[in-house]
Amino acid sequence: MRSAIILAAGSGTRLGGIKKQFLDISGKTVLNRSVTKFVDAEVDEIIIVTLESEVCAVKEMFSNLHKVTHVTSGGKTRQQSVKNGFELCKDDGIVLIHDAARPFVQVENIKEVARKAEETGAATLGVPVTDTIKYVECGVIKSTPKRELLYAVQTPQAFSKELYKKALNDAKCDYTDDCQLIESLGIDVHVVVGRKDNIKITTAEDLSYAKLLAKMNL
Ligand code: CTP
Ligand code: MG
Repeated sequence: MRSAIILAAGSGTRLGGIKKQFLDISGKTVLNRSVTKFVDAEVDEIIIVTLESEVCAVKEMFSNLHKVTHVTSGGKTRQQSVKNGFELCKDDGIVLIHDAARPFVQVENIKEVARKAEETGAATLGVPVTDTIKYVECGVIKSTPKRELLYAVQTPQAFSKELYKKALNDAKCDYTDDCQLIESLGIDVHVVVGRKDNIKITTAEDLSYAKLLAKMNL
């Protein structure tokens, strides 16, 4: 059983308060684009987590998609939103967790992450960084980690449900991605190398690139 949780309960602060999940990009909303990718990746059920005020509208939006089994409200933080969605997943198999704000993920990459998680227990999509990354404190460079060892991780991230349940129960703080929950248990998370254009729409600068990617049918 492959369950997908699509996270769409953010408020888009860095985009000036625009709820980016509902932005129309070339005729289709960001959320719709993301959900469609998981339908095409043939997951068994899709749970959408959205803002409380949007639950009814989102239910309506996806009423013709049988794969979308639940639409529920999120929490204050991303981790709380995942938790709300996870409680509604069927029990066995793996859960794939995806940011609605990454609508350009490749269907084949979703499948690869799912297979890797089924094989190993935990996997994420990611790309090696191409910039040199510096560790900076108060505007001053403190150190330069080896670039060959650095990856930018993306979503989906996928885990055995049994493992993820334990990680959520043991969680001591609120993380910005789900790998950290598993890492905190001392368990390996495997990286599936994806594509740089699986961007997370975050700031206004991302919007023109997003429009371009949509035009390219990604
Ligand atoms: N998200 C969520 N619940 C939250 C916070 C975020 O479901 N409490 C979702 C967002 O909708 C998004 C994804 O998690 O699809 C990644 O989060 P991010 O890019 O940070 O989106 P926002 O939180 O909306 O943006 P910002 O941080 O700028 O407010
Ligand atoms: Mg956020």
